[in-house]
Amino acid sequence: MSPKNYEKPYTILNSAMTLDGKIATKTGSSEISGQEDLVRVHELRMEVDAIMVGINTVLADDPRLTVHKIPSSKSDNPLRIVVDSRARTPLNFRILNSDAKTLLAVTQAADPVKVNKLKQLVDVVVCGEKHVDLKNLMKHLYELGIKTLMLEGGSTLNYSMLSEGLVDEVRVCIAPMVAGGKYAKTLADGDGFDEMKDSVKLEFKKSYTLGDDLIVEYKVLPRKLK
Ligand SMILES: NC(=O)c1ccc[n+]([C@@H]2O[C@H](COP(=O)([O-])OP(=O)(O)OC[C@H]3O[C@@H](n4cnc5c(N)ncnc54)[C@H](OP(=O)(O)O)[C@@H]3O)[C@@H](O)[C@H]2O)c1
Repeated sequence: MSPKNYEKPYTILNSAMTLDGKIATKTGSSEISGQEDLVRVHELRMEVDAIMVGINTVLADDPRLTVHKIPSSKSDNPLRIVVDSRARTPLNFRILNSDAKTLLAVTQAADPVKVNKLKQLVDVVVCGEKHVDLKNLMKHLYELGIKTLMLEGGSTLNYSMLSEGLVDEVRVCIAPMVAGGKYAKTLADGDGFDEMKDSVKLEFKKSYTLGDDLIVEYKVLPRKLK
């Protein structure tokens, strides 16, 4: 698969963070959104073709990644995608249940025995050598018919997706809390840029309050795809 001149899903990074930009505490506690924001998140899940998370989010939260906070049926659930280079997804985790379809993106570095066990439960795509090649994954998703994608974290995957120019919109719920701590997860961790001039640039779209939370939405300005 050539990463050049490919089409990719329209991708919305959605996250809940504290005023100081944390999306989880150092112990992994991440209950940040108020009830109204949870409804907004589940409405957005219902609108998109797929939801994507990094493997550490699965390991930390054992999320269902389904539409379940608003009235819905099983057919409303988008495809669930886990970026999991080494096929670490535990076989008994909820992401592998039959509530929705799941696609695991692994690499050639993954243990083939574990990959075969996972393949009996969900779809698996090999995408890259050591770390999941996100550009190729986006191309593959587009070819599968995924035209809209919700990126639900965590910090490391958010940074990779943003820095590789693969995010089109950022929607953030800012809760009136301060978590502090240098080991807490932020909206985007990863290696970070050396210079502000290289940072991902955003254009403000709108903001509104939902209960005690402030929702802020931005368009991501185009980056040159490498
Ligand atoms: N508040 C919120 O809205 C929210 C939302 C989601 C998550 N969270 C929190 O975020 C925390 C997890 O964040 P995290 O930063 O530790 O992990 P993460 O972003 O969920 O997962 C990162 C992992 O994905 C894998 N990966 C594979 N290819 C990658 C690539 N090209 N780029 C980036 N990652 C790649 C890597 O593990 P391998 O190399 O093993 O594949 C990497 O360590 C949890 O505590 C969770 O509760 C909060």
